[in-house]
Amino acid sequence: METINRYWTYSDKPVGAWPEPDNFELCEGTIPAPANGQALTRTIYVSLDPYQWAYKELREQSRGTPCHARTVAQVIESRMPGYAPGDLVSNTNGWAEYELMGEGVTRPAYMIPRKLDPAAEKISHAVGVLGMLGLTAYAGMVLQCNPKPGDTVVVSAASGGVGQIAGQLARLRGARVVGIAGRPEKCRFVMETLGFDACVSHLSPSFAEDLKAACPRGVDAYFENVGGEVFEAVLPLLKSDARMTVCGRISHYGEAPGGVAGAEQNRRAMARGVTVTDLWASHYVESHHDAMLAELGPAVASGAVVYREDIRQGLETLPFAFAEMLKGGNFGKMLVQLSEDPTLRGA
Ligand SMILES: NC(=O)c1ccc[n+]([C@@H]2O[C@H](COP(=O)([O-])OP(=O)(O)OC[C@H]3O[C@@H](n4cnc5c(N)ncnc54)[C@H](OP(=O)(O)O)[C@@H]3O)[C@@H](O)[C@H]2O)c1
Repeated sequence: METINRYWTYSDKPVGAWPEPDNFELCEGTIPAPANGQALTRTIYVSLDPYQWAYKELREQSRGTPCHARTVAQVIESRMPGYAPGDLVSNTNGWAEYELMGEGVTRPAYMIPRKLDPAAEKISHAVGVLGMLGLTAYAGMVLQCNPKPGDTVVVSAASGGVGQIAGQLARLRGARVVGIAGRPEKCRFVMETLGFDACVSHLSPSFAEDLKAACPRGVDAYFENVGGEVFEAVLPLLKSDARMTVCGRISHYGEAPGGVAGAEQNRRAMARGVTVTDLWASHYVESHHDAMLAELGPAVASGAVVYREDIRQGLETLPFAFAEMLKGGNFGKMLVQLSEDPTLRGA
């Protein structure tokens, strides 16, 4: 049995706009022993998400604070009622090979561990399409943007974790969906595999004109993931009664937080934020989490909704994969695998 636990902490190097590998420090310690009410888990997948850099309190941690992340893990040893060795869970081990969960392990309420059923779902989906990404996309697109047949719906970061789900939810409701993505292979994937009607690249010098040409009747709903120049290109195309969900503004995550510049110009447009942590803490969970699972669970299983993951390997890659994801280096939902996924054994 292994005794050494390796994990990443924040270093004391001052943070710049975007993460550098030396903002993180690889540490070693003894694998912790579970107390009464706790279980020891070994991390299988670490979810890398833009919010881990967007939240100042996460990126400006004091030296030695373990790096936070949602994870999928397997129970190794348990003194926690209801959890036995071998059980698979969705929890918050952070960038660590081993971590405790249960009593006395403080976590926000929306990050309580959940036991996974590998017969019912691909376990990595618990931190993606059937977890917080699915709920974010469902709430932001279905409930707030309310796409209808014939609507033109635009989704930015369209090939990413949230964007790919949000766009397909609009497509399933009969909307004409236009994606915005970076590299040509991402744009092709968005159209050919995800079934969007068009996809334009924000890397093109003619991006704003390309987007206008792809939305000849204007934009009825916009699912905003990016901000900056992408938002500025969408804004003049919004119809006067357009709906807009501000899910994220990744192009600004290196800056101080601010408002959505220019939104007030379209006075009758509805711009509304979505914050998945609020959803988890509110009535949305009871009323809409089940609806999200009821739609996306079968749709992903049947292939009616495609969900692409970008899974990197090994604890050492975490800071590099994280920095890459924030700059568009990921192609699909970014995860880092730290140990064998037992559900794929023999696959
Ligand atoms: N509101 C909530 O509760 C909530 C929950 C989850 C996620 N989010 C937000 O949703 C957004 C997407 O998150 P995700 O986890 O699905 O990540 P993701 O889309 O899988 O990865 C981020 C993508 O953003 C794009 N991007 C990065 N910088 C950009 C720039 N300057 N201009 C244009 N595009 C840029 C890149 O795609 P391209 O290569 O195609 O440009 C990159 O691959 C983020 O803003 C995130 O903060 C919000």
